[in-house]
Amino acid sequence: MRFLSGIQPSGNITLGNYLGAVKNFVKLQNENQFTDFLIFIADLHAITVPQDKTALRKNIRSLVALYLACGLDPNKVHIFIQSEVPAHAELGWVMQCNGYIGELERMTQYKDKKEKMVGGVSVGLLTYPSLMAADILLYDADLVPTGIDQKQHLELTRDLAMRFNSKYGETFNIPSPYIPKEGSKIMSLVDPTKKMSKSDSNPKAYIALLDDLNSIRKKIKSAITDSDGTIKYDVENKPGVSNLLTILSCVSGKPIDELVNLYQDSNYQKFKEDVAEAVIKEIEPIQQKYNELINSNVIDEVLDQGRDYANYLANKKLNKVYNKIGLGRKR
Ligand code: AQP
Repeated sequence: MRFLSGIQPSGNITLGNYLGAVKNFVKLQNENQFTDFLIFIADLHAITVPQDKTALRKNIRSLVALYLACGLDPNKVHIFIQSEVPAHAELGWVMQCNGYIGELERMTQYKDKKEKMVGGVSVGLLTYPSLMAADILLYDADLVPTGIDQKQHLELTRDLAMRFNSKYGETFNIPSPYIPKEGSKIMSLVDPTKKMSKSDSNPKAYIALLDDLNSIRKKIKSAITDSDGTIKYDVENKPGVSNLLTILSCVSGKPIDELVNLYQDSNYQKFKEDVAEAVIKEIEPIQQKYNELINSNVIDEVLDQGRDYANYLANKKLNKVYNKIGLGRKR
């Protein structure tokens, strides 16, 4: 079994990224047998929308330190930067030529992000899922741990792989998503009908793992709920309270039903205070480890090892693909 996943360094990673993805990476790493577990920093994906050069470099390094601080063990997983493995972009091009504009235009993330863009939509934003397919197929990943928002892209990856296999012969393994039962879609704190995103222009909408603890308290205290005053799980009618219940359940390990019982006589203020303290209890040790790691040599050592191993696997696969298609000379 080979596991693979990645996160874009498009900001400071959020509680949503953590609960929907990273916490799951750590669980998989600790509870499973696998041949390889590859985790990358999706910097090529990040430039599908404008990025500031200095912030991008900082976010790449910060994401590696956060991966490690959250519990990823470099003795078990290979961590690397996507742009340091050129085969991603190369297979990404092959995948673009294997996909159809119509299927890319149907992707929800493209439609959502396109609406928010000012000053033109990059071609990369449309073809993002072809690159994501390449990321996964290069390594014959079996399982891709991810939040629910990436499910549609993963389905496209499977379609592209099957299409390629039927055209050129068995080449790619068909991957499956691994989506957590709870926490797969943490919602914005200012609009709980929208996903929490690290690139949201309003920082009150998300909790970043590196937010200072007081601002976490303030953000949760001012999270939008409703005027009904009861603590119930009802995503349709009470999306704000349901989101906070999900967050509390994920960080405390207590099932939502149990929490609803526990808070049946509480008011929103007490409930929010408890959510904030539970989130802080989870995040504070991560921040401490992050501070120890961010300026250490460990980050470059981990990235060098990850880059070399990922290039070794990816180039073998890329050669196979080029031979199947008839590109260049036989290798
Ligand atoms: N709100 C969320 N709840 C649960 N999981 C989430 N993920 C993202 N948001 C939530 C999961 O985190 C992983 C990393 O995602 P990504 O950085 O590659 O891209 P994204 O899904 O577009 O994440 P963001 O935070 O919304 O980034 P921006 O703002 O740059 O677009 C994925 O596994 C994703 O499912």
